[in-house]
Amino acid sequence: MQDRIKGILQLKPSDEIVKAEGWVRTKRDSKNVCFIEINDGSCLKGLQGVLDKEKFDAALIDSISTGCSVIAEGRIVASQGGNQTTEMAVESLTVVGTCPADYPLQKKRHTVEFLREKAYLRPRTNLFGAIMRVRSTMAYAVHSFFQENGFVYVNTPLISASDCEGAGAQFQVTTLNLENVPKTEDGKVDYSKDFFGKMANLTVSGQLEGETYATALKNIYTFGPTFRAENSNTARHLAEFWMIEPEMAFCTLEGDMEWAEKFLKYIFSAVLEKNAEDMAFFSSFVLPGVEDTLHHVIDSPFEHMTYTEAIKVLEPENSRFEFPVKWGVEIQSEHERFLTEQVAKRPVIVTDYPKDIKAFYMKMNDDGKTVRAMDVLAPRLGEIIGGSEREYRHDVLLARMAELGLKPEDYWWYLDLRKYGTVPHSGFGLGFERAIQYVTGVQNIRDVIPYPRYVKSCDY
Ligand code: 4AD
Ligand code: MG
Repeated sequence: MQDRIKGILQLKPSDEIVKAEGWVRTKRDSKNVCFIEINDGSCLKGLQGVLDKEKFDAALIDSISTGCSVIAEGRIVASQGGNQTTEMAVESLTVVGTCPADYPLQKKRHTVEFLREKAYLRPRTNLFGAIMRVRSTMAYAVHSFFQENGFVYVNTPLISASDCEGAGAQFQVTTLNLENVPKTEDGKVDYSKDFFGKMANLTVSGQLEGETYATALKNIYTFGPTFRAENSNTARHLAEFWMIEPEMAFCTLEGDMEWAEKFLKYIFSAVLEKNAEDMAFFSSFVLPGVEDTLHHVIDSPFEHMTYTEAIKVLEPENSRFEFPVKWGVEIQSEHERFLTEQVAKRPVIVTDYPKDIKAFYMKMNDDGKTVRAMDVLAPRLGEIIGGSEREYRHDVLLARMAELGLKPEDYWWYLDLRKYGTVPHSGFGLGFERAIQYVTGVQNIRDVIPYPRYVKSCDY
């Protein structure tokens, strides 16, 4: 007996009784029959159930409405209607949970803004069902890719006492009484009284801990939530997002970029293969041609350019940018989009950024000005991956930290790695939600995670 509607829709007409469980999307009545569409989230399409009114109690038929949950049993028959090849001739029906008329999801198309306010019900819409199925495929593909390539999955801590990105955008974790904070003699907060005996935060990245495992197991990856208290109200920033961070020992930036490209192509291919119906839906209703762009990305090699080359391309175009560029400034999303959409017409990997706009742990180039960083930029979105070769030379790392005012005693174990059998190593971080945005064409990052957290918003 088939129990998911995706499977039931594949069945040929037969005398076998099958059972379908799900939620009613629509109900249509005529004099003698009642049509219901049952959806269970296994695919976009619902199963059409046809009820012969003579065989059912009128009160039961009346109790069916959009949003109610039902169990329907019957035979699969050829459909008379044009929208489907088969339907269920329902022989018994149970309304498990009725649904009153104030149900927020009515038949019309709702805006994503409206649905964000009804985030607990939005997975019942076609759009969010499709997004979440794709998200699930991508999560599985992340694990398959790394497992097939011999990487070890490492769970790095979510509560951390070190700041990986040094950007100061951390959420503090404390059990101190905020109404009456203990103070030291010189008037500072006395963290020795806090839960961990020191200041602690939610992690912004598992990279530093990941490096310690890579320098033992060679190739590792993490896949988990990360937290950033950035005050950025954009369509590509969340305060809680998922990140995938592989880290490879005996690997330089060249190897790092090869892994990143192979990895992205693998997860995009998995979605095209497993979610064809959902992808066709995104192409029709979200972003025309989104499937084609994925095929194009998979089939063509990524473009490579250094930061210095990128600035040379961007500078003559400064009049079109809100933020004009010159060597040394951050590349913003408008520039990233120009490089990918106008110049390369495909993903671009930019390398060798100025040290002053990148994190402390990146390997210094011989020029003393740039570091072995790489960002993968995607058309429509800009940065989806940030990575680098790590500074594995103890003395150079110490000097760099001193330059930035970072205290060696706060990173003593990270520095020790450079003392005990140090080795060139590299890694990167893929923002999982940005990857989902790219694949689905969904505009706003808040719509590709079940419950988005961002500035002034922590509902549900
Ligand atoms: O470039 P980022 O900050 O790099 C790191 O965290 C490194 N430790 C990664 C590594 O080398 N292991 O972040 C990596 C990626 C970005 O490219 C972006 O896709 C995503 O994480 N990201 C965000 N996604 C959603 N909301 C935010 N606020 C994000 N900040 C970064
Ligand atoms: Mg970055």
